[in-house]
Amino acid sequence: MLQINPKDIPISKLHQYLLGAVGPRPIALASTIDKDGNSNLSPFSFFNVFSANPPIAIFSPARRVRNNTTKHTLDNILENNEVVINVVSYDIVQQTSLSSTEYDCGVDEFIKSGLTPINSNLIKPYRVKESPVQMECTVNDVISLGEQGGAGNLVICEIKMLHINENILNDAGAIDPNKIDLVGRMGGNWYCRSSKDALFEVEKPLRNLGIGVDNIPSEIRNSHILSGNDLGMLGNVESIPSLDEVEKYMKEKFSTEQIQDFSIRNKEALQELHSYAKELLSKNLIIEAWKILLIDKLNRK
Ligand SMILES: Cc1cc2nc3c(=O)[nH]c(=O)nc-3n(C[C@H](O)[C@H](O)[C@H](O)COP(=O)(O)O)c2cc1C
Repeated sequence: MLQINPKDIPISKLHQYLLGAVGPRPIALASTIDKDGNSNLSPFSFFNVFSANPPIAIFSPARRVRNNTTKHTLDNILENNEVVINVVSYDIVQQTSLSSTEYDCGVDEFIKSGLTPINSNLIKPYRVKESPVQMECTVNDVISLGEQGGAGNLVICEIKMLHINENILNDAGAIDPNKIDLVGRMGGNWYCRSSKDALFEVEKPLRNLGIGVDNIPSEIRNSHILSGNDLGMLGNVESIPSLDEVEKYMKEKFSTEQIQDFSIRNKEALQELHSYAKELLSKNLIIEAWKILLIDKLNRK
C-alpha cells in the first residue's frame, strides 16, 4: 500500500487522490444570487444531506488552489444566506458541467448552460426547472476550514421547501432510482450513472440480528469459492438451518445416488456445493444456499 502523509505532496495531487478515492459523490447544482440580483449556478460534489430533523444539506465551495480566491457561490451566500440545491440527473449532466466554467463574476450560468430558471416559493435564487428535485434552503452557518488554497467552506443549508417532479415517483410514492437517474462524480473527468445495471439491492441488516461472519462454520468461512460478499449475506441470517431441515431439503432436491455420491467424492463434491451455493446467493436465495452448504455437515454427522 502507498502511504501518504498529506503534508508531503502538493495540494493538487492530494486533491486528485481524495476525489478518486471518495466517490461516487452526489452533486449539488447550487443556484445563488448576489446583492444586485445577478444569478449564479455552479455544481459542487463535496455535498450530502446530514440530517432529516432539521433537514440539513451541506456542500463545500473551496478556495481556489490556483490563486486562493473564493467562489462566487460562496460570496453570494455570505451576502444573502440563500441557495437552491438542485440534484443532477443524467439528462442535465453536460449542462451542469458547463455551468462549472469559471465565468467572470456577474455572468449568469443559467444563460451559459441553457438550463431554465424558475421562481422559488420562499427565497430569491431560482430553481433549475430541468432538475427532478429542487431544495429551497436558507443557510444556517458557513464554516471555513482554512485560509489557504484548497480549503473548503462548509455551507450548512436548512431545507425549507422541497420540489419533487412526480415523474420520478413509483406507485408507492417513493423516489424510484431508475426514474430519477442521478449521476455521481468520480475522480478526473469521470462520472457514473446510478440506474439500470448499476443498481442492486442489499437487504437491510437492521431488522434482524445477523449471526455474523464469525459464526459461520470455518469450513464454509474459509471457502476458496465464496467471496466476502457471499459471507456477508450468509452472516445476515438470524439462525442457521437445522440439520433436520437440511436433510429434508436434501431428500426433496437430490436422488439417493446423488446423496451417496456427495459423501464418496467428499472434497470435489464440496467445491460443487460451494459453487452452487454461490449461484443461489447471487439470486438472493440465502436460506437455500445455507442448506446446500450444510449438506457436507450432514454427511459427516
Ligand atoms: C460536477 C462538479 C463538481 C464540483 N464540485 C466542486 C466542489 O465540491 N467544490 C468546489 O469548490 N468546486 C467544485 N467544482 C468546481 C466548481 O463548480 C467551479 O469552480 C465553479 O466555477 C464555481 O463557480 P462559482 O465561482 O460561480 O461559484 C465542481 C465542478 C463540477 C463540474
